[in-house]
Amino acid sequence: MDELRIRKAVVTDLQDIIRLWKRNIRTINTASDIADLFHPFKKYYLVAVYMDADAGTANNGMFEGGRGRERVIGFVGGAIRSGHGHISGIAMDREYRMNGIGKRLLKMVGAEFLADGFEQITLEVRKSNRNAIRFYKKNGYKKSYDIKGYYADGEDAIVYEKKIKI
Ligand SMILES: CC(C)(COP(=O)(O)OP(=O)(O)OC[C@H]1O[C@@H](n2cnc3c(N)ncnc32)[C@H](O)[C@@H]1OP(=O)(O)O)[C@@H](O)C(=O)NCCC(=O)NCCS
Repeated sequence: MDELRIRKAVVTDLQDIIRLWKRNIRTINTASDIADLFHPFKKYYLVAVYMDADAGTANNGMFEGGRGRERVIGFVGGAIRSGHGHISGIAMDREYRMNGIGKRLLKMVGAEFLADGFEQITLEVRKSNRNAIRFYKKNGYKKSYDIKGYYADGEDAIVYEKKIKI
């Protein structure tokens, strides 16, 4: 049986993050745009990975974390914007959704923000992305305001925010 783990992203995860971002989020961001978001705020990027069951047997049963043994199936990416935490992107590959992994990613990046003294988190979501809106609301985010024509195709964004406390 495979085991799920959520860990901090490292530079070698960038290609997987780009793949997840482009496949699951409606965006015109190019790979290089995503890399530009990732590098300065790498510490706020987390990945959800499945490790193959036989991953550890090569080293007397100890897991070594070799990349070939992991499957990256989701990510969250944060940033610091205007003095508060910001969710730049979050996505799960379709077949792994609705299992509470998105919730864990969101909670863990929130803990990273809080550890650095940032108690407020904001994010933008497309007005039409009802599943994501439901997801954010379920995780305690409140609607703040609309930004008309925020996305390149002219769609409005809704800004959601949450105050996190210990
Ligand atoms: C948003 C997303 C990251 C959530 O990840 P997840 O692992 O499926 O989320 P969880 O399992 O923790 O939470 C599930 C909850 O989210 C909401 N939700 C997510 N997807 C949903 C769907 N397809 N239908 C209905 N509700 C959905 C619901 O509130 C659901 O709980 P409920 O059914 O009890 O109300 C995932 O759906 C995704 O990758 N979507 C595509 C990318 C995207 O839109 N990202 C956000 C914009 S940047």
